[in-house]
Amino acid sequence: MTSISLTQFLIEEKRAGRINPELRLLVEVVARACKRISIAIGKGALGGVLGDAGTGNVQGEAQKKLDVLSNEILLEANAWGGHLAACASEEMEDPQPIPDAYPKGNYLLLFDPLDGSSNIDVNVSVGTIFSVLRCPDGVTQPVAVHFLQPGTAQVAAGYCVYGPSTLLVLTVGHGTHVFTLDREVGTFILTRRDVQIPEETSEFAVNASNQRHWEAPMQRYVGDLLAGKEGPRGRDFNMRWVASMVADVHRIITRGGIFTYPLDAKCKAKGGRLRLMYEANPMALIVEQAGGAASTGRGRLLEVQPTGLHQRVPVFLGSKREVEAAVRYHREADAAA
Ligand code: F6P
Repeated sequence: MTSISLTQFLIEEKRAGRINPELRLLVEVVARACKRISIAIGKGALGGVLGDAGTGNVQGEAQKKLDVLSNEILLEANAWGGHLAACASEEMEDPQPIPDAYPKGNYLLLFDPLDGSSNIDVNVSVGTIFSVLRCPDGVTQPVAVHFLQPGTAQVAAGYCVYGPSTLLVLTVGHGTHVFTLDREVGTFILTRRDVQIPEETSEFAVNASNQRHWEAPMQRYVGDLLAGKEGPRGRDFNMRWVASMVADVHRIITRGGIFTYPLDAKCKAKGGRLRLMYEANPMALIVEQAGGAASTGRGRLLEVQPTGLHQRVPVFLGSKREVEAAVRYHREADAAA
């Protein structure tokens, strides 16, 4: 079997009229940056990249050295190609304009350079998540407000998971595809085309230590999952929680499941825990393109109208029927109230 590289895949997508040369370049540049991040992560303590950076990000979270390094790698890689109008990142309060020395393109790139960074120092999978939007027509100096487009407007989304192998999971709006990094050659190779998430699942992912802070419908939903065969769901469920969204979502992409970070009393004032623009939206597009579903518990995630670059949302995503079940618990509770 001849292997298909990311470059070949993207050229074929271009020939099929599904992407243009600019978007193709953008995806290749992001993938190249992810290779550099993968190499840095792989060196671990030998590369001096573990531990805290001694700084905080815009969300008030302590930054790891790899958070800072991954952000720099992505910014630097994307500055000069002429495909972007601006970048926005979890690590920066405001969007980063493209330096005047370089031509500007038509796309806006958002990323979480290193998702799951609490797992870096314990050698558990982490990742990079990215989302691509069009720069609104006529805008030459994009600022935050120009990024505030619903997830349905994304033209591409992807994540890299740096695990036992490095994988790139990509959608340009026509299915979700998985590429594995061939480390010797330095090339991403297509290893799963058109992933389909099973509609049914018996596996859920949630940080159960927050249980006492959850809303009533979430308490009831998880209570019924935990009740197993003897409960209203009539079957046993298994629980998994890596605490890197990329790793948890990748398990769902691979074998189904539901991932949720619901609203809870601790994060209610902020609107949720996970970030809409560069965590929830790209993952929601990837999951929907793989036949799954993604919701806030009360509406389709991709239809949320953003009001801030670093806005947070509740997230339920994965196997379609299970996401629908979780939404049903919320609908019933809201109707009763
Ligand atoms: O937002 C970053 C993140 O690390 C996600 O990758 C992950 O799903 C979640 O936060 C973990 O949250 P907690 O620390 O509550 O388990």
